Amino acid sequence: MDEKTLLKAAAEAAENAYAPYSGYQVGAAALGEDGRLYTGCNVENASYGLTNCAERGALFAMVGAGCRRFTLLAVCAKGAAAPWPCGACRQVMAEFCQNGDTPVLVRGGDGVIMRSTVGGLLPEAFSLKGAPPCRS
Ligand code: THU
Repeated sequence: MDEKTLLKAAAEAAENAYAPYSGYQVGAAALGEDGRLYTGCNVENASYGLTNCAERGALFAMVGAGCRRFTLLAVCAKGAAAPWPCGACRQVMAEFCQNGDTPVLVRGGDGVIMRSTVGGLLPEAFSLKGAPPCRS
């Protein structure tokens, strides 16, 4: 599956975002090592702290379906600001990525695509069990 397909899936997922408080719609698409595509969108709540980001939505869907590793993640937002993953999502990405070189693509509403890796986004991820996948 190519990057363009993943970005398109993330943009489509952003359409489902429930973001009445921020007005900022985000979608994410993760390619599982099983070859399947998993998507998520941000889901906000009147109790703001309960908000779940698009990235975690996609990764939790992947784990819920029985897949524990992703090989590529794309994130798209409808607002101009680029949706660089928040700290919490970076830690979750570190837990379920294939390795530190796993690519992360970020596209804001202006269409500009930026690239990083899970290890680049969170070089010293927390782990209780020695090195997490992002450092191996
Ligand atoms: N958000 C995401 O879903 N992913 C990101 O990468 C950045 C932020 C959401 C959380 C909240 O619903 C809204 O964007 C504004 O912070």
